[in-house]
Formats: sequence, C-alpha cells, structure tokens
Amino acid sequence: MPISGQNYREIGRAAAGAVSVVAVYTADGASVAALTVSSFVTLSFDPPLVMFAIQHNGSGFRSMVESRSFGVSLLASDQKHLAERFAARGSAQREPRDFVPGESLQVPLIAGALAQVECSTHQLVMSGDHAIVVGLVEAARTRPGLPLLYFDRQYGSFAGF
Ligand SMILES: Cc1cc2nc3c(=O)[nH]c(=O)nc-3n(C[C@H](O)[C@H](O)[C@H](O)COP(=O)(O)O)c2cc1C
Repeated sequence: MPISGQNYREIGRAAAGAVSVVAVYTADGASVAALTVSSFVTLSFDPPLVMFAIQHNGSGFRSMVESRSFGVSLLASDQKHLAERFAARGSAQREPRDFVPGESLQVPLIAGALAQVECSTHQLVMSGDHAIVVGLVEAARTRPGLPLLYFDRQYGSFAGF
C-alpha cells in the first residue's frame, strides 16, 4: 500500500537538492516559460543526457514539452532571488530580460549561473503527476562558485567537511 501524502512530503524535505531554472522560449519568441526545479540531474555520459521532472498541471508544462530545446541554469549561492522568482505562480509567462540566449541553441539561460546547459529535447516520459524530460546536451559551460541548495524548505549553500 502506498505511503501517505504527509509521509511522502517528509521524504521531499529530507532530500537536499541543487536548485536550477529550466526555461524555453515560447513559440513566438516573445516570452519565456521557466520554473525552478530541484529535480535536475545528469543522466548519461555517452550520449551526454540530463533530466528533470515537471508537474503536468503547471502553467509552463505545455510550452516546456512542446519546445524542441530547453536551457538549464544551475543557480549560484547568490541567486536565491531568482529561485524564488521562478518558483512563483505563472511559470508560462516570464520576463525575457531575466535571460540571455544560448550560444548554440535558442534557449533562455541565466547569466552568472554556476552552469549553463543547452539541450535538445531527447525524450519525454510521463510518470505519475510529473513528466520526466530528458535532454541531449548540445553545449554547456561552468564557472567557479558555490551552488544554491534547497533542504527542509530552506535555501542554503554547500560547506564541505
Ligand atoms: C526549490 C524548489 C524546487 C522545485 N522543483 C520542482 C521540480 O523539480 N519540478 C516541478 O515541476 N516543480 C518544481 N518546483 C515548483 C515550481 O517551481 C513551481 O511550482 C512552478 O514554477 C509554479 O508555476 P505555476 O503555478 O505557474 O505552474 C520547485 C519549487 C521549488 C521552490
């Protein structure tokens, strides 16, 4: 028998995660659909694949799954305000001025992010109330710095032992 919703939420709170923003330009290119996610992970080395999960009923879902490419920006520790901005309701309509276009693909990226990843959409797997979006990495760059992390409903950063 499956566990209760409360029990499931406790697992979510215990799982610390890096905070990213996934984003696409809408079909007319006039606006950006973007949302904060903690589900981004690298998936496969060869070919280079990454993935994240997105809920079906979110306002950005349609744009995200219809787009043939997407950008992922792994936020740096000083970008909490961006995580909060893109976790707010209305993920289908974001300000394009918060983003810079990719170098290889027409995808929205965040300047100053710890990593910028440009992906073509490789696979979409529906699973429960989320879809798993798999991307083939066409271009990427990283910069030194500390990550923005999320744990127990709070933002923080990394401190090694
Ligand atoms: C730290 C954090 C991590 C999140 N991770 C995800 C995620 O992995 N997948 C997802 O679909 N939503 C995730 N969300 C929620 C979305 O950011 C949020 O629901 C969405 O942007 C709200 O837009 P909407 O109401 O317009 O759909 C996360 C939120 C926060 C604060």
